[in-house]
Amino acid sequence: MRVLVLGGTHHVGRAVVEAALARGDEVTTLTRGLSGHAVAGVDARRADRRDRGSVEAALGDDTWDAVVDTWSYEPSAVRDSARVLNGRVPHYTYISSRSVYTWPPALGLGETAPVVEADPDSTDAEDYAAAKRGAEIALLRDFDGGTLLARAGLVLGPYEVVGRLPWWLNRIAAGGRVPAPGPHGRPLQYIDGRDLAGWTLHAAREGTTGAFNTVSRPGHTTIGALLEHCVAVTGSDAELVWLSPEAIEAAGVEGWTSFPIWVPPTGELAGMHDCNVTAAHDAGLRCRAMEETVADTWAWLVREGTPKPPSSRAGEVGLSAEQEVRLLGAATG
Ligand SMILES: NC(=O)c1ccc[n+]([C@@H]2O[C@H](COP(=O)([O-])OP(=O)(O)OC[C@H]3O[C@@H](n4cnc5c(N)ncnc54)[C@H](OP(=O)(O)O)[C@@H]3O)[C@@H](O)[C@H]2O)c1
Repeated sequence: MRVLVLGGTHHVGRAVVEAALARGDEVTTLTRGLSGHAVAGVDARRADRRDRGSVEAALGDDTWDAVVDTWSYEPSAVRDSARVLNGRVPHYTYISSRSVYTWPPALGLGETAPVVEADPDSTDAEDYAAAKRGAEIALLRDFDGGTLLARAGLVLGPYEVVGRLPWWLNRIAAGGRVPAPGPHGRPLQYIDGRDLAGWTLHAAREGTTGAFNTVSRPGHTTIGALLEHCVAVTGSDAELVWLSPEAIEAAGVEGWTSFPIWVPPTGELAGMHDCNVTAAHDAGLRCRAMEETVADTWAWLVREGTPKPPSSRAGEVGLSAEQEVRLLGAATG
């Protein structure tokens, strides 16, 4: 296929580019050329997606078989790309998010769950859920061809810029006593960016359309198995000190941000690792083993170093030194 990737130099986009090249596809990318890792072997075009004229100039009169759009800011940029690409690409995938569903996410949430209100013409990127949903609406409204909405949940794997699994790997590599959020067997649900990329390209080739929750099946692995594998791949002497959800709450430490990846089994965050993914898996989504994701992410960090998040939205993830002391104190009573 001739594939146009809008983005293509960070986590998901880079994985799409590499997967497409590995399949023998011809790949064009569109970025400003300001951040990330340019993959060799692509036709790299330059434009600012907030400026429709520069997008038109960069894309010329060319045509593609599929477009994959990784945009995560204001919906108006997706609207404009959809309009520019009408009649020139039969299939357009938008890398969306489970954040489009109204908060909090219910256990077992499927694609028909209620979504947030959003404006497809909005130039506001502050509200992430509304930005992602607005972009979905813009695409459905303004693109004439087939549309695929890949509603990713937590994305891990090499090239991760938010820094969740990198934080755990770097912290565990540093050794010593590491507070670990229990229970050890708490199930996790996420997707390796490479599996999202592979499925997106497969779905584009098949002409698959619609909205799909795109993560592993619930219980793909557990927090205990994942953190123990972080110890194994880093060769660290770290000792994982397991804490109950109650002890973590009593210490005033939050899941997801301070304890990246993990969420407590009760409360608003509980559904983050428990959405229904039957549709995507029936449509060919396959998720590699956790051990491969952890090992390859560590190999990438050693090879390229920890990247700086390109967006302030990524924020800070991980425990502060002060939180660690508090949690270890709670663990030993
Ligand atoms: N991480 C998660 O857990 C998670 C979960 C659910 C969904 N998602 C979604 O997954 C996607 C992640 O995609 P990603 O990792 O490939 O993307 P990303 O980190 O958002 O990368 C952005 C790409 O777009 C380019 N770009 C930024 N501003 C631009 C502009 N004004 N004009 C043109 N290009 C611009 C960047 O290159 P330049 O800076 O060089 O322009 C870069 O290549 C997002 O849509 C996110 O919402 C992520």
